[in-house]
Amino acid sequence: MENRQRIAIVTGANKGIGLEISRQLSENGILVVLTARDEVRGQAAVKKLQDVGVKEVIFHQLDISDPASITCLKEFVKTKFGKLDILVNNAGVGGVELQSPTTLIEGDSESLFAAINETYEMSKECIDINYYGTKAMCEAFIPLLHQSKSPRIVNVSATFGKLLFIPGDSIRKELRNIDNLAEDRLEELMESFLVDCKEGRLKESGWPDRAFSAYKVSKNAVNAYTRILAKNYPKFIVNCVCPGYVKTDLTYNTGTLTVEEGAKGPVMLALLPDGSPSGQFYNQTEPTSFE
Ligand SMILES: NC(=O)c1ccc[n+]([C@@H]2O[C@H](COP(=O)([O-])OP(=O)(O)OC[C@H]3O[C@@H](n4cnc5c(N)ncnc54)[C@H](OP(=O)(O)O)[C@@H]3O)[C@@H](O)[C@H]2O)c1
Repeated sequence: MENRQRIAIVTGANKGIGLEISRQLSENGILVVLTARDEVRGQAAVKKLQDVGVKEVIFHQLDISDPASITCLKEFVKTKFGKLDILVNNAGVGGVELQSPTTLIEGDSESLFAAINETYEMSKECIDINYYGTKAMCEAFIPLLHQSKSPRIVNVSATFGKLLFIPGDSIRKELRNIDNLAEDRLEELMESFLVDCKEGRLKESGWPDRAFSAYKVSKNAVNAYTRILAKNYPKFIVNCVCPGYVKTDLTYNTGTLTVEEGAKGPVMLALLPDGSPSGQFYNQTEPTSFE
């Protein structure tokens, strides 16, 4: 079993910030399991890295919304390495579609908010992937992270995951109150968001009702889940991070930062030394408030 080297899994790594996180981790001597839901896109991403001299990277298929795919990756990592040191939950979707691409202005998020449309189906997919997918990955890999001397989980979140993006006082209160927030209750909140979304009563129920509403809810849930994990697994270092406003497909390339800049925060958290803070939220490489 090849278990002397530190092993990382990066999800959604065929492009964007995930691909760059993989490159930077590998540059730091980590053996990266670069994963992608599409085999062809994933293999092409690995080749792209290998072509520029990156050696410490291997590919494995992973769709974080498919339990069988997660199990297959888990068996692979268990058999090959017997442990996992770093889990970077980067895969995510915006939960929107672009309606008017011609009105987009680079660096102007308002122009993006005005150009998108979001349906119930997109919102459901967004919660399923961003929240439930991230959670399923953590649950699957916690036993292998226990086999590491310095386990790290990095959940790539967003500034939209701050509590200020949840208008309803009582929902915000529940999400903030980590000592009393059970995982089951977090799931109930996600389910009620989806019901309210389907029935067209997001605003009355205290949910964000425009400009990436499901995305805001999903990333708030990721942040709350990160804090629950940090509390439940004191030997792990578990943090969440907004990479900044990055030029990728998710922002329809309106972002102001490069992927190199966006990957810095997640990579810093993946490589935190023992004794570092856990259960924190970072904006790029700086600590920030959950509020
Ligand atoms: N860009 C920003 O400004 C920004 C800001 C805040 C937070 N973030 C967060 O940063 C992370 C990376 O986003 P990005 O900007 O790099 O976006 P991106 O270029 O669109 O990349 C998203 C990645 O996630 C993958 N993915 C989506 N659903 C998946 C699933 N079910 N299973 C596995 N992989 C899946 C995509 O795969 P496919 O190619 O197959 O679709 C793609 O590889 C996301 O969590 C996002 O919310 C980004």
